[in-house]
Amino acid sequence: MIKVNDKYALPFLTGDEQSLNERVAKIHKQIHEKTGKGNDFLGWLDLPKTYDKEEFSRIKKAAQKIRNQSQVLVVVGIGGSYLGAKAALEMLNSPFKKKGDVEVIFVGHQLSAQYTNELLSYLEDKEFSINVISKSGTTTEPAIAFRIMKNYLESRYGKVASKERIFVTTDQSRGALRSLTTEEGYESFVISDDIGGRFSVLTAVGLLPIAASGVDIDQMMQGALDAYNHMLSLDNEAYKYAKLRYRLYKSGKKIEILVNYEPSLSFLSEWWKQLFAESEGKENKALFAASANFSTDLHSIGQLIQEGERNLFETVIKIGKTEKDQQIPSDPNDLDGLNYLAGKSIQHVNDKAFLGTLLAHVDGGAPNIILEVPTINPYYFGYTVYFFMKAVAMSAYLLDVNPFDQPGVEAYKKNMFALLGKKGFEELKETLLNKLEE
Ligand code: PA5
Repeated sequence: MIKVNDKYALPFLTGDEQSLNERVAKIHKQIHEKTGKGNDFLGWLDLPKTYDKEEFSRIKKAAQKIRNQSQVLVVVGIGGSYLGAKAALEMLNSPFKKKGDVEVIFVGHQLSAQYTNELLSYLEDKEFSINVISKSGTTTEPAIAFRIMKNYLESRYGKVASKERIFVTTDQSRGALRSLTTEEGYESFVISDDIGGRFSVLTAVGLLPIAASGVDIDQMMQGALDAYNHMLSLDNEAYKYAKLRYRLYKSGKKIEILVNYEPSLSFLSEWWKQLFAESEGKENKALFAASANFSTDLHSIGQLIQEGERNLFETVIKIGKTEKDQQIPSDPNDLDGLNYLAGKSIQHVNDKAFLGTLLAHVDGGAPNIILEVPTINPYYFGYTVYFFMKAVAMSAYLLDVNPFDQPGVEAYKKNMFALLGKKGFEELKETLLNKLEE
């Protein structure tokens, strides 16, 4: 299980813990009785127990089909329809492509013409399939990417054979993508109404690309189920983390940096950033969710963490033991002066880097919360994402905001549609063009 170590955060805390505990107890009831803000989006809460087993086995079959027929799986999606799978793939697969692996490549998570063009060239001599993921089925970035990818797929395999290579994950009945799926007869999977994008990693949204890459999704769901059970009662580690970050926020810390010491966790941080920033950043409130990869970033923003404005704290994901280690060899000449480490492992050095940094940053006035995660594997991916989802629900409710909506995301979309000349946005287009000319 994940343990929250608060030793290096406690000295920085202010505020009355007793009254906070009373609020947490009330919110816990609200979460489980589904009576808080946005309560129709709590489908993720019991999901590790109640998920659709029939669909789950269809996901595994589809993943196998993809593995049999493709060298590359192109996954089209953005935000919650992208980051969960990306985080799992980065965390659980080798950073270097292995012969015979299905390579999963994402597109539709930005609007880069250069990237899209390079991807089309890369696919030229490869067998590939597409998994298009969009809950609304109308998001512009993935919609454009899917149109282009589908066009290219059909030019390669023909329209009929392409149907065997397109896998759709979307709403049960609504949206343009669902209509297209019904029309064309693509194999499809459902994102249920009561699960928002950034809470959907344990649905087909995450599961299909993750399984297609060869990761054991049974283990992943087992981890999520154990996390679910460990976090059913009021006294749990997710709430402990939520309370700590809330108290640090209230004592003047405005930035939370999620830190890792394993590069494979860097996209878990990207997923976490979306989860926390999009769930909490409302009504002029919330911690700014940032991330750092150590020891890499100790040679860049480490300076600011140590001595910059004292408005931040760190939450460190500390992995107990990695699966593989590497010994440092002895050298007869010792010209680099490293023989004092000969026979020691890189993990050992990384552990000392963690401890040294922890003490230095805390001495410098940056509180540290430590999340102790035993190891990196599919089980702990499932466990960790569930832990964070439970924590963010509590955290956002402590701020008294709705954790499950994202009204602020609409502002850029409206402007973009207006500037692109979409029907219905004529008036806004005028206003924006005038602003640009001012
Ligand atoms: O968390 C969210 O709801 C968002 O980040 C969405 O996942 C993102 O905007 C993509 O939406 P959709 O899946 O509808 O294309």
